[in-house]
Order: sequence, then structure tokens, then C-alpha cells
Amino acid sequence: MHDPELLAGFRPRPTDVLLPCAPKAGTTWMQMITHQLRTGGDDRFESIHDVVPWLERPIPGTSAEERLAHYERLPDPRVFKTHTTYAQTPAPDVVRCVMTLRDPRDCCVSFYHHMCDMEDWTLEATGLRAPESFEAYFEHWLSFGAWFRSVESWWPHRDDDNVLILRYADLKSDLPAALSRIAAFLGWERTPAQLARAAELSSFAWMKANAERFTQDAATGRRVFRPGGFIRKGVVGDHDTLMTDAQARRVLEEAQRRLPEPCLAALGLS
Ligand code: A3P
Repeated sequence: MHDPELLAGFRPRPTDVLLPCAPKAGTTWMQMITHQLRTGGDDRFESIHDVVPWLERPIPGTSAEERLAHYERLPDPRVFKTHTTYAQTPAPDVVRCVMTLRDPRDCCVSFYHHMCDMEDWTLEATGLRAPESFEAYFEHWLSFGAWFRSVESWWPHRDDDNVLILRYADLKSDLPAALSRIAAFLGWERTPAQLARAAELSSFAWMKANAERFTQDAATGRRVFRPGGFIRKGVVGDHDTLMTDAQARRVLEEAQRRLPEPCLAALGLS
């Protein structure tokens, strides 16, 4: 999922926008939102990954050189999804960054479904295995720690002029307000009609109804997730459906050990 050659060879531009979200924090949603804001509303794309590529992700059958040449040909302003930490991100002080923060417990449960909902061919192609149980998966998620690495690296930069950090819960409660905020941050002036169209196309309902545009394999166009997977439920607090109180406590303890109080408070974890 992570090709260091792509990161090392990437040539950032000041007009670039990077979306450095932790896995399952609403990365695809932010890809859609920024694409819609950039275009003023565009439903003609086939796959979101064509218009907002995943920066560090290698594509089988395509060399890093070809991929980087493709990035060079993309028109400004370019937008890229990434799961890199601040330290891994190429020139994070040159580009603009928009990140979504989501409750780690919800991200954990969302990733469990992500793994369970993958089509067999995808698991085979990526060498992954569907989880045997939530318990086993949970231990791996917690020790792997991707959510914690991402948030602890980006949080100190929340007040940087070129970084905007938004909460998933706020996007859920008032999407039009979040869209206006992102457009203002990026300096993309949009009419009320364009903002309304962007909000409509970025809604959970629209994305769910058009799920194939978000779940296709970038190389083959094949469906990566079973129908109903990936653009799955999109709610706040879904960890209650699977995570025990003891497991939730362990996530909170790890968050409290690694993150400063204002970050915990922003996530409602203090
Ligand atoms: P759930 O599995 O909890 O439903 P990522 O893109 O980082 O992998 O995150 C995927 C999560 O974002 C999934 O969460 C998915 O349903 C949710 N999501 C995607 N589009 C959304 C939207 N328009 N509104 C709310 N949540 C959305």
C-alpha cells in the first residue's frame, strides 16, 4: 500500500491539496468533498481514484516512474489521498492539507468491516486475510497502531497556515458548513448553487447509491468490496455494535497515553 519511490519522486506544488486521513476516518468522503468543491459539482467521473489518486499507493503493472509521470500531467489544483504521517509526507509545508479526525473506536470497527467485506480476489491479490474474529482483529489493530501514528504526527500541525483539521462528527452534523469552511481554506470561491451541489454529491445517500465509483480497483476496474461494503453505514458511535467496554477502554488508554489533552477533548475522548 506504500511505495517509498512514489513519495520520494513526488514533485509537490503549492496548489496541491493532500488529504492525510487515518484509515477509515473518512478519507474517501474527503476525496469526494474536495473534488466536488474543486469542480463546483461533477458527477461524470468513473472512479474517485482517477480524479483524486492515492499518492503512495503502487498500482500493479504500472511502474513508479509511470505513476509519477501521470501525477505530473494532472491539472492544477491536484488533490491526493494519503495515509502518510506528517514525517512521511513530501513537503507538508509546501502543499495544503485537509484532514479528518474520527473517533479511533469507530475507525477500528469500520476497518474490521472493510476487511470482512473485501472480495476474495482482492484478499488474494493483496495477500490479506479476512479476520477470523473481531477479538483477533482488534488485537492486531491496536498493536499496529496506524490511527495513533497518524493523529499524533498531524495534531501538532493543526494551527499551521496550510493545515486544516476537521472532525468527522462535525461533517456529519453540518456538511454544508464544513464545505464552506474547506472552500474558504483552499481559496476556492464557489457560488451557493455550486456549494449546494457539492453537498448533495458528497452526501452519504449519493455516495452509497453510487458506491461502485468508490470501490473499484484502480488498475483493473474490478469491484474490491462486496455490495453494501465500504460506503457502509457512515455513523458516529458505531463501535458500540461490536466493541466491548473492555476493548473500548484499551483504545482510550492508548489514546490517552499518546495524545495531548486538547486532541483527546477534540475527539470527545477525555
Ligand atoms: P463506516 O464503515 O463506519 O460506515 P475511509 O474512506 O477512510 O476508508 O473511511 C470509510 C468510512 O467513511 C466508512 O465508515 C464509510 O461509510 C464512511 N463514509 C464514506 N462516505 C461517507 C459519507 N458521505 N458520509 C458519512 N460517512 C461516509
